[in-house]
Amino acid sequence: MTVLETHNLQKAYRQHGKLVEAVRGVSFSINAGEILAFLGHNGAGKTTSIKMIAGLIQPDRGWVKIEGFDPHRQPQALRRLGAVLEGTRNLYWQLTAEENLEYFGILRGLNRKVAYQQGIYMLERFGLLHKRRTPVQGLSRGMQQKLAIAVALVHHPRLLLLDEPILGLDAEASQEVKGLVREVAAEGCAVLLTTHQIEVAEELSDWVAIIQNGKLITLEPTQEIIRRFSDSTYIINIQEQLDSGRINKILALGATVVDEQIGYSGTPQGLYQILEVLNPLPLVQVKQEQADLTQIYLELLRENSDA
Ligand SMILES: Nc1ncnc2c1ncn2[C@@H]1O[C@H](COP(=O)(O)OP(=O)(O)OP(=O)(O)O)[C@@H](O)[C@H]1O
Ligand SMILES: [Mg+2]
Repeated sequence: MTVLETHNLQKAYRQHGKLVEAVRGVSFSINAGEILAFLGHNGAGKTTSIKMIAGLIQPDRGWVKIEGFDPHRQPQALRRLGAVLEGTRNLYWQLTAEENLEYFGILRGLNRKVAYQQGIYMLERFGLLHKRRTPVQGLSRGMQQKLAIAVALVHHPRLLLLDEPILGLDAEASQEVKGLVREVAAEGCAVLLTTHQIEVAEELSDWVAIIQNGKLITLEPTQEIIRRFSDSTYIINIQEQLDSGRINKILALGATVVDEQIGYSGTPQGLYQILEVLNPLPLVQVKQEQADLTQIYLELLRENSDA
């Protein structure tokens, strides 16, 4: 079931009399239980898109639907939404952990008793129960981040927006937050996650969306994109250096040769042509290289900046 739908979102800012086109036609959707990693370089338009989805800034064009409701016009949309924007601004620093949860629970439509109970449940779940009476300013950064996510979830939203949720967290807190994101999705919440740690996106996401200069250049299931790139990359190791005749033939087939290693990105047929040139030299190994999302991400950004 589709939880979030965005269509042709556009936003330009006026900066020193100049128009900055931050988002230039972004469309995607997220189903219940799915995590979409929203990737892109600094200033690519991620936070601007998220703010439009969260109903915080009005798009110049395009629309957002959260389970069919428009966050800019229909308050039902906001009840279905939890968001942690850059930093931890969705918390009141002088209120305690439990007061924050209760306050925001009520704000999003729970009655006082349910808000309190849900707050306690969230504190337990996030391992923060022992800090329930501590004001936010007395919590560590990682605890504040976990509390911010707890607050975003207190009313059981259908859509969770997380802008850089693990920035600045230590290894243990990052693991915990990643685990929580997985759990929330497993319970059926749709999650939009931005991160500059591409390996985190690879670990968590079902879908990858890459935004460059305000436009989506990629929107594809994570495993498919990894398979697509991995399928076509081979490394061949040979026992000794090649003679120049063979090197030239192999280069002509579009492969690279570095000492005893040949690298090739292309079709299986092309691979067999290379093996034919090598015949009958002894091979050490032929392997398909598993592409990782970081390589793919950089490659896609490069391809599209050439275009
Ligand atoms: N309030 C604003 N006023 C003017 N320009 C803005 C404003 N907010 C963002 N921009 C501009 O819009 C563009 C997109 O910014 P945005 O914050 O959406 O990027 P981002 O992808 O979230 O980047 P980062 O990875 O650094 O968080 C940038 O050029 C930025 O300078
Ligand atoms: Mg941002």
